[in-house]
Amino acid sequence: MRYIVIGAGAVGGTIGARLHQGGHEVVLVARGAHYEALKRDGLRLITPESSETLDIPAADGPVPTRDDDVLVLATKSQDTIAALAPWPSDLPVVCAQNGVDNERTVLRRFERVYGMCVWLPAQHLEPGVVAAHGHPYSGMLHVGRYPQGVDELAQRIADDLGKRGLVGRATPDVMRWKHGKLLGNLGNAVEALLGRGAGTAEIAERARAEARTVLDTAGIAYSTTEEELARRGHNVDIRPIDGVTRGGGSSWQSLARGSGSIEADYLNGEIVLLGRLHGVPTPVNEVLRREANRAAVGRRPPGSMSADELLALIEA
Ligand SMILES: NC(=O)c1ccc[n+]([C@@H]2O[C@H](COP(=O)([O-])OP(=O)(O)OC[C@H]3O[C@@H](n4cnc5c(N)ncnc54)[C@H](OP(=O)(O)O)[C@@H]3O)[C@@H](O)[C@H]2O)c1
Repeated sequence: MRYIVIGAGAVGGTIGARLHQGGHEVVLVARGAHYEALKRDGLRLITPESSETLDIPAADGPVPTRDDDVLVLATKSQDTIAALAPWPSDLPVVCAQNGVDNERTVLRRFERVYGMCVWLPAQHLEPGVVAAHGHPYSGMLHVGRYPQGVDELAQRIADDLGKRGLVGRATPDVMRWKHGKLLGNLGNAVEALLGRGAGTAEIAERARAEARTVLDTAGIAYSTTEEELARRGHNVDIRPIDGVTRGGGSSWQSLARGSGSIEADYLNGEIVLLGRLHGVPTPVNEVLRREANRAAVGRRPPGSMSADELLALIEA
């Protein structure tokens, strides 16, 4: 089987590197300066234990495909449709992304869709270089067929991931885990807007409380923090890496890189959407969704707002 990783940034780069180290055939799909660096120098994966440069084939667009290819989509959710557009729809797609909308979107074109719940703290440091902070494993990845179930391919992908540096698990209810992860990711916009300053935890918790009401009203199952911690154990503890400053999560990184877009419509915005569908007000998540987008479009750095400013907007 060959893994084609579309969007070989923090998460995609780490998964691609670990699969390659585990002896699997991998192609990394990237663009711009990152693609040029991958092609020229290979991918450097830095972890708390090692720094290794890996010679993995890279492409800046679709490659001729084979029957045994699996597409691993690791772009931000807002890039899903464009990133998959050039790829043939008879291939299986694994959504290695946060949020819960990608699988549904992809299922319109691709018949075989798999969800992946990604616990993998990583950063795309510079073109060609990715840092993965998890120890002793870089990440724990739950994989399952969408909308539910475990088939032969899901099991095989989980086994392949587990060969080197990752914990892979096939799970029949992957979207329940992804809804649980979504609750955690509602804090991404808060961290991006406020940095790690005072008030961050309190506002994130308000967003989560609102979201639990929405999910309960909609009858959507989600894993709990206790379940997640029990599964993860000490498999993916975050460790410092010499010479690498760990910034924030993936939305924080979008602002830090000035990328001009952010995933908030698919994280806080998912709760807003469900709230509207089920008649539950979601003022906290709506303000976070809107302000995170404003910060991204305005190319403001992380931490550009104070908690008081954000709270005033929420109360308004
Ligand atoms: N980082 C984490 O610690 C972490 C942890 C768990 C889950 N996640 C989730 O994992 C997903 C990926 O996040 P990430 O942090 O890995 O993002 P990332 O570092 O920005 O990587 C995404 C990559 O996809 C590339 N890309 C976008 N559209 C593309 C296209 N059409 N063709 C080729 N490449 C394309 C981006 O290129 P450009 O840079 O040129 O845009 C970028 O290199 C998100 O859903 C995120 O929420 C992240």
